[in-house]
Amino acid sequence: MKVLHIDSSIMGGASVSRQLSQAIVVQLTAKHAGAQVDYLDLAQQPIPHLTAEILMGQDAEQAALGEKIIQQYLDADVVVVGAAMYNFGLSSTLKAWIDRISVAGKTFKYTENGPVGLAGNKKAYIASSRGGVYGADSPADFQEGLLQTVFGFTGVNDVEIIRAEGVNMGAEMKDKALADAMAQIQAI
Ligand SMILES: Cc1cc2nc3c(=O)[nH]c(=O)nc-3n(C[C@H](O)[C@H](O)[C@H](O)COP(=O)(O)O)c2cc1C
Repeated sequence: MKVLHIDSSIMGGASVSRQLSQAIVVQLTAKHAGAQVDYLDLAQQPIPHLTAEILMGQDAEQAALGEKIIQQYLDADVVVVGAAMYNFGLSSTLKAWIDRISVAGKTFKYTENGPVGLAGNKKAYIASSRGGVYGADSPADFQEGLLQTVFGFTGVNDVEIIRAEGVNMGAEMKDKALADAMAQIQAI
């Protein structure tokens, strides 16, 4: 089993999403002996933003990097993404990764019946952390929905969200959010 583990929080060892994503990967590797884990730390090693030159294939080095990132995504049986909420959305580094994997003809294609995902047959876990609390239909939540939509667009419909929210609303809220998320992870 190939696991693609991605972190994007800027907070290093103090990050909640990193703690959750790590626990998910530990759980997965404990259950699947011999699992191979590829790791992207987008805060430490950000992927350059998409440019016209990259899009048009005029930057050989970036084209090669883009191919590698796409192949890594296609090859993964499980994708685990640590996603901190920043200003209601995702970190710009995680968005830069999304911009590189969402490529027509590679991870999706357009047909006369609409878009079809080409990266299915995998499961995605979103390790979501946010300072506040958002309801299921919150108009201010552009974090989990964006990731879920991108996964679905590329054919990945089996998405599980492990969420710790309200982590900036006092120690008690944070501890409970973490305990609940860890219990969900133990059940994987
Ligand atoms: C730059 C920045 C922007 C943030 N924006 C939001 C926000 O819009 N809504 C929210 O609920 N929390 C926000 N937070 C709080 C984080 O979502 C929260 O601290 C979360 O734990 C971050 O994930 P991490 O611990 O993995 O870094 C923000 C934090 C930072 C550093």
